[in-house]
Amino acid sequence: MDILDWKNLPFGYLKTDYNIRSEYKDGKWGDLEVSTSEYIDIHIAATGLHYGQEAFEGLKAYMGKDGKIRLFRWDENAKRLILSADGIKMARVPIEMFRESIFQVVKLNKRFVPPYGSGATLYIRPLLYGSGAEVGVKPSAEYTFIVFVTPVGPYFKNGFKPVNVVICRDVDRAAPKGTGIYKVGGNYAASLRADVAAKENGYVTSIFLDAKEKKYIDECGPANFFGIKDNTYITPKSESILNSITNMSLIELAKSLGIKTERRQVPVEELSEFTETGECGTAAVITPIGKIVDPDKNIIYEYCKDGNAGPVTQKLYNRLVAIQMGDAPDEFGWMTVVE
Ligand SMILES: Cc1ncc(COP(=O)(O)O)c(C=O)c1O
Repeated sequence: MDILDWKNLPFGYLKTDYNIRSEYKDGKWGDLEVSTSEYIDIHIAATGLHYGQEAFEGLKAYMGKDGKIRLFRWDENAKRLILSADGIKMARVPIEMFRESIFQVVKLNKRFVPPYGSGATLYIRPLLYGSGAEVGVKPSAEYTFIVFVTPVGPYFKNGFKPVNVVICRDVDRAAPKGTGIYKVGGNYAASLRADVAAKENGYVTSIFLDAKEKKYIDECGPANFFGIKDNTYITPKSESILNSITNMSLIELAKSLGIKTERRQVPVEELSEFTETGECGTAAVITPIGKIVDPDKNIIYEYCKDGNAGPVTQKLYNRLVAIQMGDAPDEFGWMTVVE
């Protein structure tokens, strides 16, 4: 019997059976512990609470038609968590410990991996934070690493259907040479004013511009941006955006499909030259953009006029999802079976 209504899952938190934890004390990580509790006991002076010493990751487990569960490029998430830990002076989670934690937590919660064909996946959320007590602003001497999982449906309710987004000029998510390249909670806190305003005005998310000149596209809420023109996949290069693993993979897929690729600054005005635009990320997968509204300039850029994703976006989506679900050969060696 199905334990959940898989086809109608939101992108939200649902309780599962187990999570995994480890504590860093006296300069070393302790053993991984399995917990059934959804709660943590945290010191009132923990640096994670006061000074934002916190980073996280997000990746997914996919159930294949063959009944095998696969993870997508988990090693890139492990490396990015190390980058984030270094960026805000936290203890690193070694790659092997990261691997052991995520595979173990998926195995322990196997009954929550949504079935093949449901459109849902198991989202894996590793979290690292400063748990030692400090009152002065300095890095903690102690850290906690937790991995929990939760089954999720599509991030944008309509799945692979064009969404409308708005260009945001009055909020910056991250500064150049700030923390934008790290997956740290503070960036998300900084994005909330823009996100709430975008949603109140009927958009799914906002597009952030470069904080210094407000001339170039940075990224789209919790996803990277791409535009297509002249059979070329173009995505912003910026020192204040998260280096999306999905985007990295789409660049490789595009090349293998004979599509040219460019990673460079993308001026806002170039939006009028693109024939397709989209957002990409673990949660967003690939989401085509129907309209980009620039309220300050009174301009609306329109794509997908027939209501569907453009041909290049569609081709990339089909290839990526086929590899992730195990329907197409894993020609890039991106998938790891959970055994
Ligand atoms: C700010 C931001 N940009 C981009 C992404 C997409 O990155 P990835 O493809 O690694 O999930 C995410 C989500 O993970 C994100 O939070």
